Amino acid sequence: MKVIVTEDYAALSDAAAEMIVELVKSKPDAVLGLATGETPLGLYERLASDFKANGTSYKSVRVINLDEYKDLPASHPQSYARFMRERLFDRIDIQAGNTYIENGTAESEEEECRRYDLLLDKMPRDLQLLGLGSNGHIAFNEPGTSFDSTTHVAELSESTLRDNARLFGDISEVPRKAYTVGLESIMQAKKILILASGANKADAVRGMIRGEISENLPASILRRHADCVLIADGEAAAKL
Ligand code: F6R
Repeated sequence: MKVIVTEDYAALSDAAAEMIVELVKSKPDAVLGLATGETPLGLYERLASDFKANGTSYKSVRVINLDEYKDLPASHPQSYARFMRERLFDRIDIQAGNTYIENGTAESEEEECRRYDLLLDKMPRDLQLLGLGSNGHIAFNEPGTSFDSTTHVAELSESTLRDNARLFGDISEVPRKAYTVGLESIMQAKKILILASGANKADAVRGMIRGEISENLPASILRRHADCVLIADGEAAAKL
């Protein structure tokens, strides 16, 4: 894994944006696997600004997202579908029909997971963006998830519920389950870009880079990927 340490969150966001803009310019029909959460907010802000200033076009880009809360409709203020629309899609020229995310309110869990796995197979990702959970999760693959996992419904761990409560106001409001792309599917992307910012990620970053490759720390699987880049700010990289 290639490790880039930046001075701060702004520089992390600049470096990540540069990588994605370059990819989209060189391959206008790129397939991007994207993530939600706080970490990529600066990156999405920069992609939107770059679109406005330089017109980098996403007309032929397809985006397939990692995860969605179970039972939240796409219109819910905290759904990841809404997050993506507000933070990125409505601010660039991507076509709504080219964006994909699990349907949190699908009738059958099994069919929804199958539908998503077929989509992932049909759309090989040129780049998979990831955030890092403070417990080492990637997407909602919590510690203990099999490295062979494909799309499934995950039970959120207590630490993830606590981490995500800030966005819901109260921990009791956070959905306890989510659809998530599995670890095997993440590893199929041609390139992986994982971002980590802040002191609360320092232990997970250390475990991912220096610990053993183990299902107890799902992100450690990324060390087996041939083209994976970590961009961490100084706080997140402090224990390396
Ligand atoms: C979000 C996702 C999660 C987050 C992780 C870090 O789509 O898959 O794995 O990337 O929980 O979240 P933040 O960036 O909010 O610290």
